[in-house]
Amino acid sequence: MQLPLFSGWQGHVRELAAGDVYARDAVCIHFDRAENLYAQWASPTCIISDGPYGVSGFPGDEHRPHTLGDWYEPHIRAWSQFATPETTLWFWCTEVGWATVHPILLANGWEYRCCNVWDKGLSHVAGNANTQTLRMFPVVTEVCVHYVKAATFRVGDRFLGMQEWLRHEWRRTGLPFRLANDACGVRNAATRKYLTGDHLWYYPPPEAFGKLADFANKHGDPGGKPFFSMDGKSPISVQQWAKMRAKFTCEVGITNVWRAPQVNGSERIQGKRNGMKYKFSSLHGSQKPLKFIDLAIRASTDVGDVVWEPFGGLCPGAVVSYALGRKYRGAEIIPEFYRAAVERLATS
Ligand SMILES: C[S@@+](CC[C@H](N)C(=O)[O-])C[C@H]1O[C@@H](n2cnc3c(N)ncnc32)[C@H](O)[C@@H]1O
Repeated sequence: MQLPLFSGWQGHVRELAAGDVYARDAVCIHFDRAENLYAQWASPTCIISDGPYGVSGFPGDEHRPHTLGDWYEPHIRAWSQFATPETTLWFWCTEVGWATVHPILLANGWEYRCCNVWDKGLSHVAGNANTQTLRMFPVVTEVCVHYVKAATFRVGDRFLGMQEWLRHEWRRTGLPFRLANDACGVRNAATRKYLTGDHLWYYPPPEAFGKLADFANKHGDPGGKPFFSMDGKSPISVQQWAKMRAKFTCEVGITNVWRAPQVNGSERIQGKRNGMKYKFSSLHGSQKPLKFIDLAIRASTDVGDVVWEPFGGLCPGAVVSYALGRKYRGAEIIPEFYRAAVERLATS
């Protein structure tokens, strides 16, 4: 098959070279290390990370989970640098791999939302797991952990989270907290939800935030104005506030247990890799079901938003992004996986 539209690479005429890229509309798959590309990619609304697991599961995978933190840290730092408060991260890994990397994600400003479990079902191990040798229950799961890039607000030399900052700004007005209810035209919900210091706190929807900011700037201590401002000149607008948290929509009936067998049938990409001891008929040992990638992208982005898939493999994110009208930037470093991903996108 002659693959179209390669910049610097026509079909299979020459070997791939780092820096090659295949683009179909706004969906681009790079043959390069992701760390070489982040700075040139548009800021992501969603990042799908499906990198090393620490189980020697595919070429380049770390051999043990305990080295995963060091491996991921530079990537996580780059994600933090280029993400915005609208960005969602979906972090795929084994349970212990994720547990190892979790503190590094937190330290770099990623806020934990939920651990989604891919349950592959009993068929994943049927007839193939000797529990007397394993000495544990057979594992049929991976996780796809949901994080968001929490907004932070600079106050002097400190950075506050949103809940703390809202309370800080209201305190600066000198007004009693209960007047937040008058500001929003409600009996007690505003103080109880938007300005509380406990775990029952809610993000004020843009309209409510606008009312709080207007009230504070009208009635608050004149010496402290502007209130609810990030630049010290004017309050954050309702439109800006709407972009200060990650997008999320959830269809009815979806939970954090995602059930599907290992990818099989016509979705499973077949092929062989050179230089491998064993020739697998499935090209990639860690191929993800398109339906889960579709779920994650739909939940966290809108049409036109940018999806990153730094460790592409067979680049399911590219196929889904193309179908859903999202922009996409992905990377892969193994030639056979890259070629298969390009062919998959080109023919999707
Ligand atoms: C777990 S697999 C991804 C599988 C993919 N989600 C799928 O469904 O096909 C991780 C992939 O990341 C690639 N990889 C490892 N390090 C990379 C890097 N620094 N930049 C880009 N890709 C990398 C590996 O070659 C491997 O194919």
